[in-house]
Amino acid sequence: MTAAASFQHVPVLLREVLQWLAPHPGGVYADGTLGGGGHSQAILGMMAGTGTLYGIDRDEAAITAASSRLKENKNFIAIHGNFHEIKELLPPETMLDGGLLDLGVSSHQLDTPDRGFSYHEDAPLDMRMDRGQGETAAQWLARVTEKDFAQALYDFSDEKWAARIAKVLIEKRAVKPIETTQDLVNVVDAAIPKAVRRKDSGHPARRTFQAVRIAVNEELDPLPKALQDWMELLRPGARLCVITFHSIEDRLVKRAFQQMKNPCTCPPRAPVCTCGKQPVARVLAGGAIAPDELELTENSRAQSAKLRVAERL
Ligand SMILES: C[S@@+](CC[C@H](N)C(=O)[O-])C[C@H]1O[C@@H](n2cnc3c(N)ncnc32)[C@H](O)[C@@H]1O
Repeated sequence: MTAAASFQHVPVLLREVLQWLAPHPGGVYADGTLGGGGHSQAILGMMAGTGTLYGIDRDEAAITAASSRLKENKNFIAIHGNFHEIKELLPPETMLDGGLLDLGVSSHQLDTPDRGFSYHEDAPLDMRMDRGQGETAAQWLARVTEKDFAQALYDFSDEKWAARIAKVLIEKRAVKPIETTQDLVNVVDAAIPKAVRRKDSGHPARRTFQAVRIAVNEELDPLPKALQDWMELLRPGARLCVITFHSIEDRLVKRAFQQMKNPCTCPPRAPVCTCGKQPVARVLAGGAIAPDELELTENSRAQSAKLRVAERL
């Protein structure tokens, strides 16, 4: 099997992304979360072999698979890196006609047991999107304080049992290091009472895995600044499309776009603006776009997806 054929990821909100991004021949675009290259392939289709599409991913496996899938497209350039550093990744002076960010992990990452993202498999706790950099989840869990772990669970996944889970982690790791996905599932199982676990919809470890993944990959703190940098690289009239998969991420995107629309920091009752901060974008689509019924029935990953779009002024 080729790298591309083994990389399964159904692009979410594809029709809506194409509608709002409206890629055109000769344009310059960037997909900051290349993944399996599904969105990129459709964007390239609308560019008719002209212009340039930059495809960025911090995961080498995604770069390899998508480069193989898109190899016929001479106007596609794959870049291994973190889209938070977009200004350093693109050639100097590049201006974009549109950008796409489809946040989070790919189905391929979730479904590859040895990446350590899944609570359904027992595997070493890695969870890094870029396996060449930073701490693994196991290393982070070995040193995080009880207070910081509880805070991460609360901030990155709204976990109601954050304090209990953090306490149990400290107790359990004093006996044996937390090194596998099953070790982490056991921490959650020991922390959340059985009756609550039974009533909870979804796997009880889902929120803990999400929080650990976000912490290890530093997904959220740099996001507002990254969105601002992407917006600054857009030409007037060009659009930034961002797909999120949980409410915390969506809230950050919504706020960042609002801030671009109305950056004024003057007191609300000030008769005239004195801060001088001018709007840089307008928010399109009247808020968040959700997948339609058909997509929801065909792709379970689309359940919590939301698309937000902002246009450079
Ligand atoms: C939801 S998948 C994207 C799927 C893709 N749109 C497709 O159609 O196949 C998210 C991808 O973004 C990558 N990613 C997440 N955060 C990133 C970041 N800060 N910089 C670069 N890549 C990132 C992940 O490694 C993953 O491959």
